[in-house]
Amino acid sequence: MANAPDPATELVRVLRSACSGELAAGFAYRGHWKSVRRADERERIRTIEAEEWHHRALVRGLLAELGAKPSMRREIAFWCIGRTIGLLCHIGGWFIPMYGAGRLERWNVNEYEDAARLARAAGRESMLEPLLMMAEVEWEHERYFRERITGHRLLRVFRMWPPLPPKERIRAAFAEP
Ligand SMILES: [Fe+2]
Ligand SMILES: [Fe+2]
Repeated sequence: MANAPDPATELVRVLRSACSGELAAGFAYRGHWKSVRRADERERIRTIEAEEWHHRALVRGLLAELGAKPSMRREIAFWCIGRTIGLLCHIGGWFIPMYGAGRLERWNVNEYEDAARLARAAGRESMLEPLLMMAEVEWEHERYFRERITGHRLLRVFRMWPPLPPKERIRAAFAEP
């Protein structure tokens, strides 16, 4: 394809997007776990928040390895988005934050898979492990939110998003160099 960006450039673009996405996710989940009443939900979502901050640190490290930095404009925009979602969790009821989180997590899995494909294309094999690990953790997040809302009456209005393939497929797709 003419003028297609090279894989390393594309990888930086995806990682910058992921970095800001993790920032928004961290703040959104902070609001989310504080807004739920059930102790097990608070605990699990609090752990998810911690996992998103861990991802953000890893992604920042990968960007630094590539000689890049997060996009400041994006960071500011996503900081606002995360803080806003975090606040809205307190007034949005139980279902909407769970549903929205599940949909976003599904997208996150794909984002880290894309990043892993680009890392391989760019000859950055050492980045595969952290990227695939993060895709797997996002897969677990998606499953958690899916299970929480399964059977909920509001799914007659809000359609359940399409399921992800089994978790093993994430790594299997990268088994052969
Ligand atoms: Fe994450
Ligand atoms: Fe996540």
